[in-house]
Amino acid sequence: MSDRLFIFDTTLRDGEQVPGCQLNTVEKIQVAKALEQLGVDVIEAGFPISSPGDFHSVVEISKAVTWPTICALTRAVEKDIDCAAEALQYAKHKRIHTGIGTSDSHIKYKFDSTREEIIERAVAAVKYAKKFVEDVEFYAEDAGRTDNEYLARVVEAVIKAGATVVNIPDTTGYCLPDEYGNKIKYLMEHVDGIHKAVLSTHCHNDLGMATANTLQGVLNGARQVEVTVNGIGERAGNTSLEEIAMILKCHKGLDIDTHINTTKIVPISRLVSSLMNMPVQPNKAIVGRNAFAHSSGIHQDGVLKHVQTYEIINPKDVGVDDNAIVLTARSGRAALKYRLHVNGVEIEDEGKLDKIYKKFLILADKKKEVTDDDVLMLAGADMSESH
Ligand code: KIV
Ligand code: ZN
Repeated sequence: MSDRLFIFDTTLRDGEQVPGCQLNTVEKIQVAKALEQLGVDVIEAGFPISSPGDFHSVVEISKAVTWPTICALTRAVEKDIDCAAEALQYAKHKRIHTGIGTSDSHIKYKFDSTREEIIERAVAAVKYAKKFVEDVEFYAEDAGRTDNEYLARVVEAVIKAGATVVNIPDTTGYCLPDEYGNKIKYLMEHVDGIHKAVLSTHCHNDLGMATANTLQGVLNGARQVEVTVNGIGERAGNTSLEEIAMILKCHKGLDIDTHINTTKIVPISRLVSSLMNMPVQPNKAIVGRNAFAHSSGIHQDGVLKHVQTYEIINPKDVGVDDNAIVLTARSGRAALKYRLHVNGVEIEDEGKLDKIYKKFLILADKKKEVTDDDVLMLAGADMSESH
């Protein structure tokens, strides 16, 4: 049987921290319901102590959503935990996500503290959260830059205190994939009681390695991944949900499954993009406008002969009707003939196709993209010339 990977979505917490992406409660409920339909296991709904609006959103999302666990973020501070527990009161399944910075720079500059004191504060926060909920996740902020031996001591202590999930964030997106994978491996091998909890990845994309790091974390034993729709999040963003879901779907040999209904991926990507007013870059993997568009002649010819030549994902698997054969100055006759066919014009005579293609190239050199109307016009002009 395949291993199960839990998908923890933080679009409404880490994602929503992006300037200009703030959502109101009604919009957050809309996203939370879409996440439920998508099949995520955990929705991080907010950071209740941060504002009355965020508190209210966590309350309302807790009422509106049934299946996923609703999670609320806190610092390792009692009043944060009280507030999170209150915000989660209506959730059918609830989790408090508490934590503290563990890297030497966080310990020194943020907390003016010591390694020992940080372990005490971490343990106290987990024990305090356990008074309210059974499911407590601990985050070791800046774990990516935390020395592995010390991190193992922190993880062991919080598991002993009752943490059910331990999050190992690469908060600054600094780690190399090997380094992050080895960190998870080290914890799996050196922490007593590691099997009593689930290790979670939480990677940021400052160096464009969030997905690679997350994957290495999973390959080395993490069984929860923290992700966002479209990879939105602080600075360069978080690991994108759609990339992890599709990597696991495409690489069946990894034998790791999620409960994601991948056909809902593009619809939720568009919903989040429009509600957050955050356009998706056209070449973004899986959900970008060009993710299934073929524009060069060689690729178009191949795809029209057999899709497997240049497609590793069936667009329908992510909720897109079909691939797109886009006409540009790099397109060939096969693509032109195909677009005419799609628009109801059959050109069997190669000489005729050649004539239209020559006119097409002259036009295509002047335009970035040739539309269906343009090619119909070229074909129409050719027909009337030959009558
Ligand atoms: O990046 C990070 O470290 C976080 C934690 C608060 C979980 O977002
Ligand atoms: Zn984060």
